[in-house]
Amino acid sequence: MTETADHRDSYPPTAAFAAAANADATLYQRAQTDRDAFWAEQADRLQWHRPFDRVLDWSAAPVAKWFVGGTLNVAYNCVDRHVLDGHGDQIAIQWEGEPGDSRAITYAELLAEVCRAANYLTELGLRAGDRVAVYMPMVPEAIISMLACARLGLTHSVVFAGFSPTALRQRVDDAGARLIITTDGQWRRGTATPLKAAVDEALSGDPSTVEHVLVVRRTGIEVPWTQHRDLWWHDTVEHATPEHEAQPFDAEHPLFILYTSGTTGKPKGILHTTGGYLTQTSYTHHIVFDHKPGQDIYWCTADIGWITGHSYIVYGPLSNRATQVVYEGTPNFPDEHRHWQIIEKYGVTLYYTAPTLVRTFMKWGREIPAAHDLTSLRLLGSVGEPINPEAWRWYREVIGAHRTPIVDTWWQTETGAIMISPLPGVTTTKPGAAMTPLPGISARVVDEDGKPVQKAETDADSPDRSAVVGYLVLDQPWPAMLRGIWGDTERFHETYWTRFAEQGWYFAGDGATLDTDGDLWILGRIDDVMNVSGHRISTAEVESALVGHSGVAEAAVVGATDATTGQGIVAFVILTAETENTGTELVDELKAEVTKQISPIARPRQIHIVPELPKTRSGKIMRRLLRDIAEGRELGDTSTLVDPKVFEAIRTGKA
Ligand code: WT7
Repeated sequence: MTETADHRDSYPPTAAFAAAANADATLYQRAQTDRDAFWAEQADRLQWHRPFDRVLDWSAAPVAKWFVGGTLNVAYNCVDRHVLDGHGDQIAIQWEGEPGDSRAITYAELLAEVCRAANYLTELGLRAGDRVAVYMPMVPEAIISMLACARLGLTHSVVFAGFSPTALRQRVDDAGARLIITTDGQWRRGTATPLKAAVDEALSGDPSTVEHVLVVRRTGIEVPWTQHRDLWWHDTVEHATPEHEAQPFDAEHPLFILYTSGTTGKPKGILHTTGGYLTQTSYTHHIVFDHKPGQDIYWCTADIGWITGHSYIVYGPLSNRATQVVYEGTPNFPDEHRHWQIIEKYGVTLYYTAPTLVRTFMKWGREIPAAHDLTSLRLLGSVGEPINPEAWRWYREVIGAHRTPIVDTWWQTETGAIMISPLPGVTTTKPGAAMTPLPGISARVVDEDGKPVQKAETDADSPDRSAVVGYLVLDQPWPAMLRGIWGDTERFHETYWTRFAEQGWYFAGDGATLDTDGDLWILGRIDDVMNVSGHRISTAEVESALVGHSGVAEAAVVGATDATTGQGIVAFVILTAETENTGTELVDELKAEVTKQISPIARPRQIHIVPELPKTRSGKIMRRLLRDIAEGRELGDTSTLVDPKVFEAIRTGKA
């Protein structure tokens, strides 16, 4: 992007917002003076069954124990508590279906639904510690299922409903799930498409650990049925009793596993636990979104298949007694007005989305949001990838009427909750900067040796920018931090804790800079992980899907800059000797292979069929050079290349 990111372009909070804000500037000082006391205070926002004896035990680092000795029930904190406090009639979920149907679910109703599901899962023989896969579109039952698992101490593993049967099977096997909860089908731009059929396909072949498939009827489409294994939600859960007493679990009891992409082809099962996770999601949702229970209408546009959906649709907001919109469909169905119509219809006050969507809205044109009354909005959030200053300004001006604060929130599946973000009402924001670690959180930007990088004028055009780019590290444990990778302790250590092992810091995988004020600018991944529309996809995963096609001998994948999606996937493949290059036909076949192996979100934007790939003398593919080609740049340094002539071959051989 050529625009400049001038850090002097800044937006102080208005006096009115600051006066009523949940956050105040003293939080930073208080957290710094006594971190443990600060986090204990945040944990006390929850209702504990047994109070904790100790805030943090870091003696088994990097596996933390937070709120040692404490016990609590997550579902009780997200639902029962509010009903017992007299808020049973408050709407918890204002659900909007894609075809235009809707459902308002109060906290009392949510409690009854969660209890019914918990009773039925118990009847099925599921016990605390068992794993349950949730493979569902954005329907209320998906949230109910997650809460029912949490209530029983079952570990849920939500798999995004856009993932293929192959990807689902891989995750179900890795977690050893005993149950899959799904729907008959899902609405996709006005068409009911099968989903349960994907579960059937995933479970065909070798026997799996799955004993039952529990199916919610959503679209009414016909579904194949396996007697004894398959169960209808409406025949079972809906007949269960709506009373259930929640049992407390240890603060470190596993809450969920969520798979995310790493630098190898195999997804990592990120493990999160109970007390610390709920404390930090609840605290951050309260201060970052300035959420006022009973007043705000909150809407996070993520899918529950990603961490944003876990932390900022389910656990954070519900623990804070939010009334929130949950929307099933896409932003352009039936037309591009859908989000603004929803905001208008429900009077949304807090809106949290991804930069890729903001850039898409920009492309559609400002007259679309301008046709709606968006005056209810009082805060806008951004997550998932760096937001470029131009998109930031457009978001604030066109959607926020030059009035709303913008919170650019940096975090990861692994961090569980927001880590770096402005505090609305406190921070003077700058377009494109994530600003500062939240009170209680500590981060650094360092060089290879762990030394602080030099501060610099943050200007996207600055020629010496690369000189001050550093690694983003987290130098103190935090409550919602991952407790490991499911079944792979070694990978957990190697991925996050080896690079700065000496200092004991967590390596995030992102590059960052500090401006002259010391504010943080996140630049994005510096490893072989791509970010396409805020979705995290590993180059290795796509490469292995391509190589899975019989015609492909070798593949190299890079993320190339894309004006809308942040990055787009560009693949370079070498065919086997027997394969005939049929041009577009073959390219389409290869793209379909990736969709089948992973998901449509991993489908390459472009595939180049090439005779050779650029490699170093040690045989490593030089992705940097492929990125140069993919982005149409002059080639960078080719001196370590075995055969520089390979580029001529790649260029002329481009499909
Ligand atoms: C990666 C984590 C956090 C929930 C959604 C993504 C990138 C995330 C920002 C931001 C710049 C961001 C990073 C990070 N990222 N938020 N505000 N500014 N980059 O979770 O799938 O685990 O991906 O998303 O590169 O490492 P995830």
